[in-house]
Amino acid sequence: EGFYSQEDIKEIVQYAKDRYITVIPEIDMPGHMVAALAAYPELACKAGNYRVLTYWGISEDILCPSEATFEFVENVLLEVMELFPNEYIHIGGDEVPTTRWENSDIAQQLMIKEGLNSEDEIQGYFYERVSDFLAEHGRKAIGWDEIQEKGIKNKTTVMVWRNIENTRVALENGHQAILTPADFTYLNYYQGNQSTEPLAQCCMVTLEKVYHFEPILDELTEVQQSLILGAQGSMWTEYIKTNKHLEYMLSPRLLALSEVLWTNHELKNWTVFQQKLPLHTENLEKLNFSYRKSN
Ligand code: ACM
Repeated sequence: EGFYSQEDIKEIVQYAKDRYITVIPEIDMPGHMVAALAAYPELACKAGNYRVLTYWGISEDILCPSEATFEFVENVLLEVMELFPNEYIHIGGDEVPTTRWENSDIAQQLMIKEGLNSEDEIQGYFYERVSDFLAEHGRKAIGWDEIQEKGIKNKTTVMVWRNIENTRVALENGHQAILTPADFTYLNYYQGNQSTEPLAQCCMVTLEKVYHFEPILDELTEVQQSLILGAQGSMWTEYIKTNKHLEYMLSPRLLALSEVLWTNHELKNWTVFQQKLPLHTENLEKLNFSYRKSN
């Protein structure tokens, strides 16, 4: 619910910048776009009375690959680029059911016109076109790892969220990669037993699991290693309404992730981390920051 005004965004970007943080927006496309269809139903392949979703999940209602859609997307990105003076803009690309495209004249004609062999290749075309648009404006696109199964040929940075092994595919194809494998870094998942934890999303990522995340994969060449830009803790807030709850979900798992990413690998030690943890949680107490108290 709610929205950010341009003034809000400017304030957030400046606040972060003052703390040496770059805010990278994600404008997810062509899926996860029902909110846009609610405002602009003409961007769907199928006429309808779309409503902003009030539950999480994947919708078959996605953007139709029409010229009107590309014009809309480019206009949105022009506005986004102005607000976020970043090198990178994330353009999503995850969880795109193709049912609507299979039944759309616009999508089928695009396939003939562009020599595309499948609806998945429409997504590759969509992605390349939008990434190229960003490149023309001196920006780089980031996309979820599904995009590499859609025949994308340009150098979009791949954000790996499913199996961490998808990283190898990205690196072998010369893409940069950012790692946020759900099994290790999805901080919206339960931290412990579901019966005693606040409602969270599907699965469990314990503090120990986060600590055992290995962002340096075996058997990579030096060049491939250099293509890994880093990793990310992901927090999706569908079930999180208050800052206190957000803090609770972040802490102490974010401490573990910080150590995984910012400590020399040789110094990584789960036992020592557990011994140090009270020093950190004491600080969290002083800051009145909510956190989960046991492992
Ligand atoms: C994702 O969690 N769908 C990127």
